Amino acid sequence: MLFEVEKMEPRQIYNLLIGLVAPRPIALVTSMNEQGQMNAAPFSAYNYLCTDPPVVGLGVTDKPGGVFVPKDTARNIRRGGQFVVNVVTEDLAKAMNVCATDFPADVSELEMAGLATAPSSVVKVPRIRQAHAALECVEHATIEIGRSRIVLGRVVAMFVEDEFIDPKGPYIKAEELHAIGRMNGLGSYVRTRDAFLNMPRIPYEEWKAGRRE
Ligand SMILES: Cc1cc2nc3c(=O)[nH]c(=O)nc-3n(C[C@H](O)[C@H](O)[C@H](O)COP(=O)(O)O)c2cc1C
Repeated sequence: MLFEVEKMEPRQIYNLLIGLVAPRPIALVTSMNEQGQMNAAPFSAYNYLCTDPPVVGLGVTDKPGGVFVPKDTARNIRRGGQFVVNVVTEDLAKAMNVCATDFPADVSELEMAGLATAPSSVVKVPRIRQAHAALECVEHATIEIGRSRIVLGRVVAMFVEDEFIDPKGPYIKAEELHAIGRMNGLGSYVRTRDAFLNMPRIPYEEWKAGRRE
């Protein structure tokens, strides 16, 4: 089946695209408004974009409805210039999902999800205490595209619990962190527990010598 995007409704495009660009990492983003109130919401339009300098990107669609109103996360980042990406692991999956509920403005998602905060080291926005890893970010730019905003954040500090660090690289012990990924808009996720495929790259010299895997 061929889908002609120009003839489709945004919702239909969304449904297909988030099933095709998958699995995706999930950023549980903490941000703060001018009164210091915390906000937490998950975003899977998320990835690192470059490492020198270290920049991550978030795609934040405006609130539903015909008006151009940014979600609280995009708004807070624009006003305060800072946010934290808390890495979503299996043990945080249910709490992450609670944070995506559209609670009234005076209800704290973190409280509803049973999550606590811990101070960050560089930015003033706290991280989530239960998260095993977090990226502290300062806003590099927010690009408005139609009804969406692409937030580029420069990573200024990375918190990782010691047990997940292999000091040799340093690398992340990904087999032990148990990050999860989002698969589509129907509530499907993937676990990464016991799901690893190890496939080192083949140097050209070894390819020439006959190595094929
Ligand atoms: C796993 C998951 C991933 C999501 N990814 C995105 C995303 O990439 N962009 C987006 O605009 N909304 C995304 N959402 C929806 C937001 O989390 C939701 O609209 C949230 O209420 C926004 O909160 P805020 O207004 O406090 O920023 C996602 C929801 C879930 C459950």
